[in-house]
Amino acid sequence: MSTTTSTQAAPAAPPAPPPPAPPAPSAQPLLAALGQSLVPHLGALSPAPGERSWLRLPAPEPEWGMWLLAWGPGSSTGWHDHGLSAGAFAVLTGELTEYAVTRRRPDSGLVATAAGDSGAACDVPLPPDGPRVRRLGPAELRPFGRDHVHDVRNETAAIAYSLHVYAPDLPLMHRYRLDEERGLLVHTATERGGEDW
Ligand SMILES: [Fe+2]
Repeated sequence: MSTTTSTQAAPAAPPAPPPPAPPAPSAQPLLAALGQSLVPHLGALSPAPGERSWLRLPAPEPEWGMWLLAWGPGSSTGWHDHGLSAGAFAVLTGELTEYAVTRRRPDSGLVATAAGDSGAACDVPLPPDGPRVRRLGPAELRPFGRDHVHDVRNETAAIAYSLHVYAPDLPLMHRYRLDEERGLLVHTATERGGEDW
C-alpha cells in the first residue's frame, strides 16, 4: 500500500488592503507654522495707521524674493501689478482685503517690458462688474500670475502681517490709478527693484 502526499501549497490569503492614505498636506498648517516662526520678528515692524513697513527675508530659492509686510490700520498698496513676476501672499495675522483684476490683453505693455524693459505698460480695463473682492484671514494663501493687478488693503483697526513671495524677485512693478468713470486702471508709474524698494 502506498501513500501519496500533496506538495501543492494552500492558496495564499489575499493581501491586506493598504492603510488609508493620510490627508495631503495643505498650505494652511504650513503657513500657520511659518507664521509662528516669524512671531519673534513681528515686533520690529510696527507701522502707524495708514502706513506699511516691510522686511526682506531669505528666500528658499535664489531667484525668488520673500518679504514680510506689516500693514497699519487703513493702509493699502494702491493698484499695481508685479511686472513679469508671479507670486503668492498669505496673511499671518489680522485680515487683508484684496481688490483684483486680471489683465486679459495679450498685447499688454508687459510684453514690451519683457522684450526691452521699455516700461511701456498700458491701461487695464475693469470688468463690467468691477474688481473681484476677497477677504483673507490668517493662513489663507493667495497665489497669482503675472497677469494679476490688485490693490491690497488693511480695512481693519488692527495691524496685519503677511508673507509675500515673488518669482522672479520683483524687478519691476507698474502702478495704476482707478478711473471708475472710464472703467479703467490708468497706468501712472513704473517702479524698479533696487531703486524704488
Ligand atoms: Fe502686489
